[in-house]
Amino acid sequence: MPESLRPEEIRTQLASGRLGKTIHYFIELDSTNRLAYKLAAEGAAEGEVVVAEAQTRGKGRLGRSWFSPPGLNLYLSVILRPNLSPADAPQLTLVSAVALADTVQRFLGAPPAIKWPNDILVGGKKLAGILTESSVDAQRLHFVVVGIGVNVNLPASMLPEEIRGAATSLLILTNKIVDRTAFTGELIRNLDRCYGELEQRGFPPMAARWESFFELKGRKVKVEMGDRVVLGIARGIDRDGALVLEKQGGATERIIAGDVTRAEA
Ligand code: BTN
Repeated sequence: MPESLRPEEIRTQLASGRLGKTIHYFIELDSTNRLAYKLAAEGAAEGEVVVAEAQTRGKGRLGRSWFSPPGLNLYLSVILRPNLSPADAPQLTLVSAVALADTVQRFLGAPPAIKWPNDILVGGKKLAGILTESSVDAQRLHFVVVGIGVNVNLPASMLPEEIRGAATSLLILTNKIVDRTAFTGELIRNLDRCYGELEQRGFPPMAARWESFFELKGRKVKVEMGDRVVLGIARGIDRDGALVLEKQGGATERIIAGDVTRAEA
């Protein structure tokens, strides 16, 4: 029997923090992001967390679905109400990626890599992903839902065929069952800390931390944007979270969306 998440215990680990004072826990949901967005639109407070043991319609980025079997992984969404302009909202995704990478490092004993913009990879395979959804109007960011999915105790035999070559889990990597309650507590604490640092010190220190997990920094990369392919050297990220690419001849291009992979040397 897989161990279940213990929301009461998570809450006691977070006593002094701003995030996770309220944890909405479900055995099954369509998507923790969908519910968190609805709760936020109805006035839920900053820091409320939604966690589910399974999702029937887990959402991935770019309209993809997120594989969400019961009792093995982590599916979590946090409601934030940051004092940021809509243009700075992408910073929250990058800050969340740092918090997630820190958490994975703690449980793995080695740093994972961040694949721009916010996939967490180990050994080139995806361990975790982040889907951020915001409510904005022209002037104001009303709220942001940060949704995090982590493959924790998923055995290799349960990986669906279509992601088998591209995905991994903490169990596959370490051969050990991870206590999901402890992982979730650590993740929420790290999110709290990184979010606080963003507020107090601004984005540049967080961008530097993000870049410390960005293995392709300084390397030759290929960026695929639909039919368009651009080659260049990945220099880092700017304050919008865009990837800064130095092209041949020295011109730079800011990449807002696209698939970035290492180019052959
Ligand atoms: C990605 O495509 O890499 C992002 C995946 C994000 C999945 C998480 S699981 C918890 C939250 N609820 C969702 O429906 N999606 C996110």
